[in-house]
Amino acid sequence: MTALNNVSWDEFQKLSLADKARYLMSEGIPVHALIAQQFERDDLDKLGDLTTRIRQISKTREGSLFLSGMLSHKRAMLYFTQPSTRTFLSFCAACQILGIKTGEVRDTATSSEFKGESQEDSVRTFSSYFDMIVMRSQIGGLAERMAWVLSNGDRPVPIINAGSGKDQHPTQALLDIYTLQRSFENTGGIDGKTIVFVGDLARGRTVRSLAWLLTKYENVRLCFVAPEPLQIGPDVTDQLDAVGTQWEKTSEFAESIPDADAIYMTRVQDEWDVEKGESAKIDTSAYCFTPAHLLELGENAVIMHPFPRRNEISTEVDRDPRAVYWRQMRNGMWVRAALIAEIFGCKERIDSYSEEPPG
Ligand code: NCD
Repeated sequence: MTALNNVSWDEFQKLSLADKARYLMSEGIPVHALIAQQFERDDLDKLGDLTTRIRQISKTREGSLFLSGMLSHKRAMLYFTQPSTRTFLSFCAACQILGIKTGEVRDTATSSEFKGESQEDSVRTFSSYFDMIVMRSQIGGLAERMAWVLSNGDRPVPIINAGSGKDQHPTQALLDIYTLQRSFENTGGIDGKTIVFVGDLARGRTVRSLAWLLTKYENVRLCFVAPEPLQIGPDVTDQLDAVGTQWEKTSEFAESIPDADAIYMTRVQDEWDVEKGESAKIDTSAYCFTPAHLLELGENAVIMHPFPRRNEISTEVDRDPRAVYWRQMRNGMWVRAALIAEIFGCKERIDSYSEEPPG
């Protein structure tokens, strides 16, 4: 059987992302949610439907009470040792929607890691008290390592990767896909669309995870727009080539706008600078979406951003109906609730909930 307790860490670590993915799903349900590569098109469709269902059910008091009884016997640990506003709060809110109680560590200076405890021991400790761990760390691959550790211990609780280093941010990619599914609901879905990524594509983990999920759609075209030092790396483009997804690179932002169905803006990730002030030397002024760009943008196109933003999108753009980034953010709460519900096997109960009072 392909499960994390049947593979040594050394073997697992060496696998390609596609091969790792096989260890992370069990009959279409995530055992852990660690990498974008573990989700197939069918999983994305199912998760989108469950998300919409949860949103609808929660509109009434009865529905909200039904949802909050769903997992009221569970507790979740939010282990976020890297700054976060949206991801942290949306996971917190998602847990509340399902009745899950939460605990948190947001700074290793306040936990025993400060006294020299290993991350392995910290995570094993969390698993003694909690039924799920949502973790964000600046260490690439740490969520994978911890999932392996727990799966090989006596409390194999699920881990959700809420952002690891520069490598992955799978739940952001899931909410981005949901936003695209909904935005293109009346224009034929995501298939055949052109998605333009702009900004720091070298170090942005949201772009890395989302670019992969987009390969699950037919005839999509990905366009990467950035100044050369911030351009997308071969680690992503090699994966796109391997599955035959069309892509192109350019440094000309304005020219990429008219053909775009979605524009995905990102900020400069200068926290990763090797030398202090390195990013500040790169001229990114041309990679900002201004009101003038709205005139070039297609009528059904959308503007997205994982947030936080700095100056990549001027606030005047917010009022345009094609600016969906605030909606995208709220979608994160619903998608995360759906993902957690799926992990804990609640999908069927939610699907069969009837809004009609028994008659
Ligand atoms: C992103 C992240 O943490 O990678 N934020 C988020 O979770 N929405 C993007 C970023 O920090 O730029």
